[in-house]
Amino acid sequence: MDHHQSFQTIFVSIIILILSSNNIVIKAQLSPTFYDTTCPNALATIRTSIRTAVSRQRRMAALLIRLHFHDCFVQGCDASILLSDPATTERTAQSNTGVGGYEVIDAAKSAVENICPGIVSCADILTVAARDASVAVGGPSWSVSLGRRDSPAANRRLADTDLPTADQDLPSLIRDFDAKGLNERDMVALSGSHTIGQSRCVAFRARIYSNGSDIDANFANTRRRNCPENRGDGNGNLAPLDLVTPNSFDNNYFRNLVQRRGLLQSDQVLFSGGSSDSIVLEYTNNPARFASDFAAAMVKMSEIEPLTGANGSIRTTCSVAN
Ligand code: HEM
Ligand SMILES: *[C@@H]1O[C@H](CO)[C@@H](O)[C@H](O)[C@H]1NC(C)=O
Ligand SMILES: *[C@@H]1O[C@H](CO)[C@@H](O)[C@H](O)[C@H]1NC(C)=O
Repeated sequence: MDHHQSFQTIFVSIIILILSSNNIVIKAQLSPTFYDTTCPNALATIRTSIRTAVSRQRRMAALLIRLHFHDCFVQGCDASILLSDPATTERTAQSNTGVGGYEVIDAAKSAVENICPGIVSCADILTVAARDASVAVGGPSWSVSLGRRDSPAANRRLADTDLPTADQDLPSLIRDFDAKGLNERDMVALSGSHTIGQSRCVAFRARIYSNGSDIDANFANTRRRNCPENRGDGNGNLAPLDLVTPNSFDNNYFRNLVQRRGLLQSDQVLFSGGSSDSIVLEYTNNPARFASDFAAAMVKMSEIEPLTGANGSIRTTCSVAN
């Protein structure tokens, strides 16, 4: 090989190396070490904010986990739900009634902006917050991949079409999650976050007054006391989604289902003679399995259609598009 040839070989190899390393970057856009050099204290700062908020109000953990879910199911995990422009905001979508925690994400964002301005996206902060919220109420932890960017816009119409509702049956829940790349097992595990938090009467009234055989009669009677049958009365009255331990992240949600004490219809259909019965029984008998499946499904959900690279932006204020 003469000097010219060997130069060419090296040159071509370098090009191939650059192309293939670019390829790796394109495939693995999200990474747990994304802010390690640009904002090494980002995760600790977010954790402190979330811990403080949950210790002030235990239900905040539930609100934050739900907020993350409602972000990810609507045009991906892009912080679109945080935008407050009244013309397009997702916050006023029917399916986002009762969703909250916005002010906690705003506070975490300003804490992070104070240490490294313009670096950490609202979409990543919300994703980390959901994980930290789980840990704060005794739930599992997991490693969060980072590098999401924030959307330029929200989409209220999509919020109402893409988010599931409490009156759905099992096949339609499976379809809705499948449309987001989540399988039946993921769907059941993620529904297990109803081990914490509250629901308004309007979302479970039809079930507790159905007089059907899929609801424990004593449980229905108990819930009727604070949720009047008359439509329009007490719509906002709250009841815990998990009647046993509503403030702790455990597997009692699944035990309730086996006893026909699921609060929402969309809860009980997971244990009603269908294909997911076996998963519910498995989580009832094996809390560790529920915890690890929940963690894995949360990671999967948090990676729905992220904006990365040059797409999207890093917002300065989470409620305002750049
Ligand atoms: C399977 C389909 C699902 C349906 C139909 C559903 C529906 C609901 C409804 C109706 C409520 C009560 C809100 C209200 O007052 O109107 C609720 C609360 C909640 N949901 Fe879901 N959900 C589903 C899946 C999920 C998933 C995947 C997560 C998170 C991973 C989640 C997390 C929560 C939490 C934590 C609360 C309590 C929030 C609070 O205390 O305010 N849900 N859900
Ligand atoms: C269920 O039973 C209660 C009391 O027995 C009754 O008031 C109610 O109308 C019934 N609901 C339906 C949907 O049949
Ligand atoms: C940016 O968005 C465009 C259009 O949606 C998409 O084709 C492209 O793959 C995205 N780039 C990255 C790095 O995600």
